[in-house]
Amino acid sequence: MNDSNDNNAGINMPRRGFIGGVGLTAMAAALPSMAATERTNDSSSTVKTPAPGLRRLGGLEVSEVGLGCMGGSGYYYPFPGKARMISVIRDAVERGVTFFDTAETYGPFTNEEVVGEALQPMRQKVVIATKFGFSYNGTERTGLDSRPANIRRAVEGSLRRLRTDYIDLLYQHRVDPKVPIEDVAGTVKDLIAEGKVKHFGMSEPGPRTLRRAHAVQPVAAVQNEYSLLERSPEKNEILAICEELGIGFVPWGPVARGFLIGRFGEGTVFAKEDNRAGVPFFFPDAMKQNLAVYDLAHRWAQRKGVTPGQLSLAWLLAQKPWIVPIPGTTDPWHLAENLGAVNARFTPDELLQFRRELEAIRIVGERAAPGTLAMSDVEAPEKK
Ligand SMILES: NC(=O)c1ccc[n+]([C@@H]2O[C@H](COP(=O)([O-])OP(=O)(O)OC[C@H]3O[C@@H](n4cnc5c(N)ncnc54)[C@H](OP(=O)(O)O)[C@@H]3O)[C@@H](O)[C@H]2O)c1
Repeated sequence: MNDSNDNNAGINMPRRGFIGGVGLTAMAAALPSMAATERTNDSSSTVKTPAPGLRRLGGLEVSEVGLGCMGGSGYYYPFPGKARMISVIRDAVERGVTFFDTAETYGPFTNEEVVGEALQPMRQKVVIATKFGFSYNGTERTGLDSRPANIRRAVEGSLRRLRTDYIDLLYQHRVDPKVPIEDVAGTVKDLIAEGKVKHFGMSEPGPRTLRRAHAVQPVAAVQNEYSLLERSPEKNEILAICEELGIGFVPWGPVARGFLIGRFGEGTVFAKEDNRAGVPFFFPDAMKQNLAVYDLAHRWAQRKGVTPGQLSLAWLLAQKPWIVPIPGTTDPWHLAENLGAVNARFTPDELLQFRRELEAIRIVGERAAPGTLAMSDVEAPEKK
């Protein structure tokens, strides 16, 4: 799984077409563009961003753009350090973000500590989402484990590290092929009755398993990878089931891990420890072809006076009113840029035209290595 590897450095190569190609100074003033070339010594807090509106994920109300906090514990180079991540999280609250995403397995454990410390002073104002689903030997992850006792162990640890007495949204991180989903949903239902959890979520479930879980305990949100580059939720029924059952949808990887920002080019080499080094979409031959998706976003961004990242997030927001992307960033300027996406709009005709152009692009490779992909779209065993 690409959110679960070690926390070592990678190499970032220059953006393709972003710094050089997009006329940043020509962009609409209301949509801040935070390219490194435009930064001054001023703090990003001087940059005004539009306050995000609110959206519903099942019974939960959140800001229409959330913050993915995983990068605060490594994964993508450069690594920020705890103090900077805490400051980015608090900056996000100041800017109107109310939805923060973490997981037991980020670190493992350390990301929840960072999020907990950052949000403790404003706990009542925010929605914290975390995830369970793995077992550990110390800090070594030993496998999937969604047995009820392990869910309870995870929740007690998450509550402690998050410095709170309730978790707003608790996701199963990946379906455990050994545990009936009725047992998982039943355990979360009990935790909700006990007041320790407010809402239930699932990440990358199989479609039948999602329906079965929802029948036991209504699912507020599904969190799957979804972006201009990775559109499997459109094809594997998950978005359709969410619409049918009134479940919200939270795209992770909404800027394709930096690809849609223009951070990579044909010559990009990731250090082997950077999570993206193992992503087949970014292998050299695939990258060469897949950059056509970035080029499309870049072209439309220029036309609309926004950045490619903003265009990519705005496209997700325009798909359904119950979709809430959680771009991950460890950088205050990037945060400000991402929030600018809420001002970018597509007309219905533009959406159709954009989709025609997008679907004409042949995307090469996969979003993860086969072993990691095998943990997605999994159906839980039947309850005997
Ligand atoms: N459920 C799951 O299985 C799963 C899996 C992975 C992630 N997640 C969650 O989803 C969140 C988002 O996914 P993700 O972080 O994998 O992918 P992402 O949000 O698509 O991309 C994050 C990457 O893009 C860069 N970036 C973001 N905005 C930028 C901007 N405006 N300008 C330049 N660079 C920018 C970030 O670098 P900087 O830090 O330098 O901005 C980081 O390297 C995570 O934080 C995590 O909470 C869930």
